[in-house]
Amino acid sequence: MIDRMIRADAVIIGGGVAGLATALATPGDVVLVSKSDFGHGGSTEWAQGGVAVALAADDSPQLHASDTLRVGLGINDQQAVQVLTSEGPRRVQELIRHGARFDRNAKGDLSFGREAGHGLHRIVHANGDATGAEIMRAMSAAVALRSNVTVHDQTYAFELVLDSGRIVGAVAVGPEGEIIQYVTPSVVLATGGIGRLYSRTTNPVEVTGAGLAMAARVGARLIDLEFVQFHPTALVSDLDPMPLLTEALRGAGAVLVDDQGSRFMAAIHRDAELAPRDIVARATWSLLEAGRSVYLDASEAVGSEFPDRFPTVFAAAQRAGLDPRVEPLPVSPAAHYHMGGVGVDLFGRSSIPGLWVVGEAAATGVHGANRLASNSLLEGLVFGARAASSVTGSLLPAPRVVPAIPSPIVDAPGAVREVRSLMWDRVGIVRDDSGLSCAIDRLDQLSRHLTSGSGEAADMVLAARLIAISARSRAESRGAHFRRDFPATGQPERRAFDAPDLATVA
Ligand code: FUM
Repeated sequence: MIDRMIRADAVIIGGGVAGLATALATPGDVVLVSKSDFGHGGSTEWAQGGVAVALAADDSPQLHASDTLRVGLGINDQQAVQVLTSEGPRRVQELIRHGARFDRNAKGDLSFGREAGHGLHRIVHANGDATGAEIMRAMSAAVALRSNVTVHDQTYAFELVLDSGRIVGAVAVGPEGEIIQYVTPSVVLATGGIGRLYSRTTNPVEVTGAGLAMAARVGARLIDLEFVQFHPTALVSDLDPMPLLTEALRGAGAVLVDDQGSRFMAAIHRDAELAPRDIVARATWSLLEAGRSVYLDASEAVGSEFPDRFPTVFAAAQRAGLDPRVEPLPVSPAAHYHMGGVGVDLFGRSSIPGLWVVGEAAATGVHGANRLASNSLLEGLVFGARAASSVTGSLLPAPRVVPAIPSPIVDAPGAVREVRSLMWDRVGIVRDDSGLSCAIDRLDQLSRHLTSGSGEAADMVLAARLIAISARSRAESRGAHFRRDFPATGQPERRAFDAPDLATVA
């Protein structure tokens, strides 16, 4: 039953950096739908490290591209990487004009941090480790000034509407539980990643893979879903999500030590703690799996400057009863970012006419098998603007047809809990055929119980199932995808999956 029907030239689903960047550049009547309060929610606000961008005097888009490609291990889309690194500086300057205040040195120049995989200091940051919050503040204030953009927050979009092979709208549940049907020729998914599918994650609770599931149900092409990035240093405490301990700490000299107080990364990689993320995450996990503990020790490198330089991490540590100025922090890897997603071209166009996808939900190909730290906010800025230019060129009148909408949402907290532990245990940092098959069988069973409706639980089961199937079919190890039964790396190949086959509920 539809309670409200709203017509618009374009509907953007998601209010993080990519959705806001798209909203800022799309003309016509635009509705921005956000699951959380406008200006809050999603992963952007929690981003700590910053934005990787070639703005330093000793840097260039070419150097940035070469680090991105090296860490991505052979399966990045080279053209997309060129676009990212060459258009990035202009987008960050634009963000500064929108009012974002990045940290500066005594001379007033941007101050650049260092993170793993980068050959030089390249990361712009704000208020130490509160970069995402500053970007959200500036961009949401700029969007609020746009008279053509209407914001519907506290509104959960759960289905796309397809008619004769093209997108004609989306369906959402509003703040009062009302069902809203958006009738529009252009939907932009900016729904973020899939972190909540894992019991250990640094992502906020609303990051449930909704965009991936919606796109799969309309048959969009999906790419490289098996590549889930695990951040090596999430704080071990009873908090869920796990607080992130930014990589910028290791960039500032913090070290990883085992339960004997010994550093272990130098023996594994020449860049030690600043080795690519997948390598540090696996090294850390192998100690934890063996029953050992791992700590991040910033007491010497940062010490008393901790509250000023890393206020977000400091507050999280204090909430857990720890003082990082003087003691090491217990850490574990945790699901952090999805490199795969809905396949798109250089303008965010998916394989389905009328559907664009931007930000973490999209697979632009920039990240390859292992995202270079702090490239994700930049991706949202660059490809959000490009998608907007393409939506602009494609603006059509709102469709007249109003196809039937799917059944109302259902809730299933038990299924959600089970998905999260299944994904961590069987589709986590180290995978093998038997664990993946076991996860897929159980997810198939769960999906059969949830066929009576859509909504968060069904989306999570579907997204989890798609990732597990993709992981089982990649019989090699590459970057974040490590197979115990296929430890060698094969031929570089991006892998597209035909969503309808994967999405069929048995
Ligand atoms: O460690 C961090 O601050 C994370 C950065 C990122 O995910 O890009």
